[in-house]
Amino acid sequence: MRKTWILGLAALAASSVAGCVPQEREHTQPSGKRLYAENCAACHGPSGQGDGTLAKDLFMPPSDLTALSANNDGIFPRNYVVSTMDGYARGEHFSGAMPEFGVKLAGKDVIMETGDGVVTPTPAALVALADYIESLQAD
Ligand code: HEC
Repeated sequence: MRKTWILGLAALAASSVAGCVPQEREHTQPSGKRLYAENCAACHGPSGQGDGTLAKDLFMPPSDLTALSANNDGIFPRNYVVSTMDGYARGEHFSGAMPEFGVKLAGKDVIMETGDGVVTPTPAALVALADYIESLQAD
């Protein structure tokens, strides 16, 4: 378990160094596609199907992120995706195989509607990532 964590973190560190120039500016919208490539593709695969280069080294297979809507009655589970990335509300069954990104991707907040007119300030990077993952959903 420790070994997979270290592998995962080493890959994350390597990818953030590679993707770090040029720095995102405060006033530009974060690119979900770029954030995904830098933070998620190593495990979840370039197109989100769970076939990243690190996948076989993890004790738990990374989920197929293109099937999130299909697994949820055709509705993209945006709040679940954001809280899973962030780490603030993961199901009890959730393993430690995926790192939490709440601290790493914190930054400027944007307002996200979380249902029934309730809005929650959410890091812009997590919202951009959720938008990008929504665009990967299979029909
Ligand atoms: C070190 C590998 C790793 C990285 C990096 C990673 N994940 Fe994961 N992810 C996993 C694993 C493994 C699971 C399944 C965990 C479980 O169910 O216990 C998972 C599960 C998920 C789930 C839940 C899917 C479902 O069907 O319930 C979402 C959403 C998700 N990841 C999104 C992301 C996003 C977005 C990123 C990048 C910000 C990311 N992950 C980065 C390994 C990773």
